[in-house]
Amino acid sequence: MIDTRPPLIEVEDLKTYFYLDEGVVRAVDGVSFTIRRGQTVGVVGESGCGKSITARSIMQIVRPPGRIVSGSIRLHREPTAADRPGDVVEITRMDPMSKEMRLIRGGEISMVFQEPMTSLSPVHTVGSQIIEAITLHQPVSREDARRLTIEIFSKVGMQQPARTIDRYPHQLSGGMRQRAMIAMALSCNPSLLIADEPTTALDVTTEAQILQLMRNLQKELGMAIMFITHNLGVVAQMTEIVFVMYMGRVVETATVDDLFYDPKHPYTRLLLRSIPKLGSKAAGTAPRLESIRGTVPHPYAIPKGCPFHPRCGDMIPGVCDVVDPPLVKIGDSQEVRCHLYTPANAPGSGEVIPLTTT
Ligand SMILES: Nc1ncnc2c1ncn2[C@@H]1O[C@H](COP(=O)(O)OP(=O)(O)OP(=O)(O)O)[C@@H](O)[C@H]1O
Ligand SMILES: [Mg+2]
Repeated sequence: MIDTRPPLIEVEDLKTYFYLDEGVVRAVDGVSFTIRRGQTVGVVGESGCGKSITARSIMQIVRPPGRIVSGSIRLHREPTAADRPGDVVEITRMDPMSKEMRLIRGGEISMVFQEPMTSLSPVHTVGSQIIEAITLHQPVSREDARRLTIEIFSKVGMQQPARTIDRYPHQLSGGMRQRAMIAMALSCNPSLLIADEPTTALDVTTEAQILQLMRNLQKELGMAIMFITHNLGVVAQMTEIVFVMYMGRVVETATVDDLFYDPKHPYTRLLLRSIPKLGSKAAGTAPRLESIRGTVPHPYAIPKGCPFHPRCGDMIPGVCDVVDPPLVKIGDSQEVRCHLYTPANAPGSGEVIPLTTT
């Protein structure tokens, strides 16, 4: 079924590289995807495939020696009656330190990290940090911001919210810190919440509570969520559509049903095979996806042709090791970057489709 919700973020051919003395690391190497308003999206792939750097690029928080080299990230803003017509801003053209970018970051787009201490300052109370964020983005007094913070704290399930806001991060448990960070991320009603492995540092019970909380908040507030995770069990619970990344690119886009019941890319199939049975106890412990044969090639030396061909059981010699596969659309909502699906390259045809991108 075609999704008719308007686009919120359109990422197109995004490249974010790290310039090191040893060479150039192509952390994100031509990523394209669209997230629609209110859509929950999962991003999966082995360690180092560029999930976090894609998220950081959207937030404009890639640190040197990394930088966005090319491509575009378009944010479609909702019209607000007061002062702003609906418009489209090109994030890659904005100065990361500019006031406008600071207002987008933590305002329209906010992020929850794996480790809460990445975004919570240890020397300020959790409440004061959220109050600060609210007063930066909204024209409210400090008292109103404090009241709002207490409201958000109860919404994210903080016990004794009026007291907890005056605590320092180290005085809270891991789960409570994660709730404080989610509260901070939600404090300015983001249109997009990026959650980068938000539960991997938590025990299974707390993880289940935080996931339930995020699901409820998404239903209530209707924001889009980009959920980055190693855990395909979490993907199944939390998301509608999934981007599978390999070596800095999206190699398959599929609805969560297609991902589990009709995966196309050989890499996606291997990822699915590498996880414990869904619903088993171990599935909740976020296993690292390391059981795929071979290892991810060195980031300085991306293989010619399809970057996955040295590890692929379906590799077509003379095709996959020569030509970079184009993106092939399958049905309304599935796309795959693999030669097996370009008709002329089906085994035995001998014909090679020239590289095209869509
Ligand atoms: N500061 C940095 N300097 C150099 N290379 C970096 C830096 N940060 C990331 N990279 C490289 O960029 C690539 C993508 O990294 P990224 O953090 O996006 O991976 P990831 O998919 O989020 O992995 P994980 O699942 O382990 O979090 C990796 O090869 C990584 O080594
Ligand atoms: Mg990461």
